[in-house]
Amino acid sequence: MKKYLFVIGLLFTGRSFGQVHSAGNVTSVKVKGPQLMLTMQHAVGEITVYSPTIVRVRLDQHSLGRDFSYAVVNGPVATHVDVNQTPEAITLLTDSLKVIIARKPFHVAFFTRDGRVINEDEQGLNTSWVNSFVTTYKHLQEGERFIGLGEKVGGLDKRGNGYTNWNSDNFGYRTDKDPLYATFPFYIGIHHGLRYGIFLDNSWQTDFNFGASTDRFSSFGAHGGEMNYYFIAGARIDDIITSYTGLTGRMKLPPLWSLGYQQNRYSYYPETEVMRIAQTLREKKIPADGITLDIHYMDKYKVFTWDKQRFPDPAAMSAKLADMGFKLTVIVDPGVKREEGYGVYERGKKEGAFIKYPDSTDYIGQVWPGWCAFPDFTGVKGRAWWEKEISKYASDGVSGIWNDMNEISTWGQKMPDNVLFNNEGEPATHLQMHNVYGLNMARSSFEGFKQALNRRPFILSRSGYAGLQRYSAIWTGDNRAEEDHMLLGVRLLCNLGLAGIPFTGMDVGGFTGGPSVGLYVRWMQIGSFNPYMRNHTGVNTKSSEPWSYGEQATEIVRNYISLRYRLLPYAYSNFYEATQNGLPLMRTLALDYTDDAAIYRSAFENQFMYGRAFMVAPFTGSEGFGNIYFPAGNWFDLYTDQVIKGGQELVSPLTMSKLPVYVKAGSIVPMQSLVQHTAEKPTDTLLLHVYAGDQGSDFVYYEDDGFSYNYEKGDFFRRRITYDPVLRQIILGKVEGQYASKFKFIKLALHGFGDGKLTVGGQAAGSEFEALLTPVSKFDPQGEANAPEGHTIRTVTVRNTSQEAILKY
Ligand code: NOJ
Repeated sequence: MKKYLFVIGLLFTGRSFGQVHSAGNVTSVKVKGPQLMLTMQHAVGEITVYSPTIVRVRLDQHSLGRDFSYAVVNGPVATHVDVNQTPEAITLLTDSLKVIIARKPFHVAFFTRDGRVINEDEQGLNTSWVNSFVTTYKHLQEGERFIGLGEKVGGLDKRGNGYTNWNSDNFGYRTDKDPLYATFPFYIGIHHGLRYGIFLDNSWQTDFNFGASTDRFSSFGAHGGEMNYYFIAGARIDDIITSYTGLTGRMKLPPLWSLGYQQNRYSYYPETEVMRIAQTLREKKIPADGITLDIHYMDKYKVFTWDKQRFPDPAAMSAKLADMGFKLTVIVDPGVKREEGYGVYERGKKEGAFIKYPDSTDYIGQVWPGWCAFPDFTGVKGRAWWEKEISKYASDGVSGIWNDMNEISTWGQKMPDNVLFNNEGEPATHLQMHNVYGLNMARSSFEGFKQALNRRPFILSRSGYAGLQRYSAIWTGDNRAEEDHMLLGVRLLCNLGLAGIPFTGMDVGGFTGGPSVGLYVRWMQIGSFNPYMRNHTGVNTKSSEPWSYGEQATEIVRNYISLRYRLLPYAYSNFYEATQNGLPLMRTLALDYTDDAAIYRSAFENQFMYGRAFMVAPFTGSEGFGNIYFPAGNWFDLYTDQVIKGGQELVSPLTMSKLPVYVKAGSIVPMQSLVQHTAEKPTDTLLLHVYAGDQGSDFVYYEDDGFSYNYEKGDFFRRRITYDPVLRQIILGKVEGQYASKFKFIKLALHGFGDGKLTVGGQAAGSEFEALLTPVSKFDPQGEANAPEGHTIRTVTVRNTSQEAILKY
């Protein structure tokens, strides 16, 4: 009977293949706590309140499938929801949101509690299907902007553009290429002072339209599977990212060495060449922590092997490197050469670790080693085999794993649709699994290598899907050594940060082609403010090490990499923050100046914050003048301490030796003395810069051993540092954790605080606190600038005890 009515229904509403099928009217509603189970004329749905600001919407044409996600690792939190039903609609009320689900037809709208519309389905279009493709259409709000979506080209504001997610290998891609390597189907909409996020958790090919060729709607949809999205509201974009990473997980603390400078090329070999690079970095006093081996270290590109001619004793080589303060990262590719007698392949075959055709034969495709089988990282067997194989690198002295070609990339790029993946016990085709392949490879590498190393591994991946931050850093693939690529790279990293991935980098210097000296220098300067800094270049290109572009370039690059090392306490504390709240280190200005139209202008959209203190204004290496926008508040020129008023744009002359960088008034910046690598001990004094401002700030200073997981058991040193301009004080909060800081002293460097009296409060004379008032030179990388007339920078040194200390001025 039911079936009969359904067929009549189809005829009545004209539903047939090739047509657009909408959900129709809501015919029944079941309320289960914070969840609504809905039946519509032509669809079923589930609407679940995950928290006061997060609501999940699931819809499908027939029945909802297994509720499983590779991205979402945390479920709903207990939330009080009032449900109110009328013949027209069902209303859900949380502390922060009102959600109205209209019944005739099904239509969802999200409002603030005081009734302002944040986001709503476009009337008449709502959610619909064309065959198995599903799309939700949202009303395009007046002036609405769209940011995020991860690794996506285009401007900061993506309004007027459409994007596709289908992870792709993109050798030397153009700056307008879409899709690139990774899928992060999460964006943020901004209008009328409101902001919200939408995360479409669907691993099929997905499409987003931010008002491209239409002034009516924005939309998101998938080529299969359910409509399954999370609506996330938040007063600030920071809150939305924190909520999103609450669902999809956060980065674990990476090893400290991975924040240092990494030297790459495709490829360094044999061993003598690797040692020459390491030696030269040290001789030329270019601080560095990592050397990376690309595919030529392997025996005929066979993963988990070494070319023994080139690298006769990898463990001995890594030990020599370790003595010099270098860590080794090696590349791994998913393609496993189909070759009898090759143990890795044979064991994988025996374990049933590879993806297969429906007739149970392994899928064989071509990549570097020739014909290859590919591990099934979406199943227990595939992962267990990979995790065991990868553990051998730990005994070879390897510290980092670089996952490449994991889109999956095969020559020809046409992996058949009918290849099957385990999909955690519910086999699925390539069409459904393609976009989560890279994520699962990174996961296996992380889990296997973490286990084997017994300390924090560094994992890098080219491909990924939402949730990648739990396992890996990401870099933006095979860019070109061109000016606009450098600037695009900045936007890509900022977009990735919006998608909850804090650890990001690009091939600094460019992968294909060769940069001019100006471009090379500028890129290395900008790279010094990227979370992951690696210099990399392709196989047939000019050398790209810091000494490859002449003396002057080397000098400037050394200055900036040195500054990066001096800023390690600041960077590491920011990484710690990211592990707590998911916020990125490289922050588009849209995070803090969301409603300031100027920051979206193409002239200023590349400006970014590095942490909350530094604003970097990237320009090409060829420009003589740059137009810089200063958002509200005051800004200190990093090099001169000159104060610039915000809310204006200024034309600044550009020189090769200086990247324009400004410090936000009110900021707190901890620094250390220069070291050549992170295993070298800095001096025992932490230099704490504080910049006067009308608005103060808080900084959570964090330290631990930098390599183990002991911090999870309380072995850390953490304190809140507060600058309060109203009470005219700087508070070094009481220390939490059991780790002993490597710094005995904290030397506060006060910028723009005038010449008044300073006291280290609450401590009687003769206590452990001592105050020194001496001028200090600024941390100009060139070490030559002087404070402007009448401007003082003063220092006060205190002992770094675990007690609270208050400095009054
Ligand atoms: C492609 C990667 O994107 C690139 O960084 C690497 O050098 C080559 N594969 C060779 O492994």
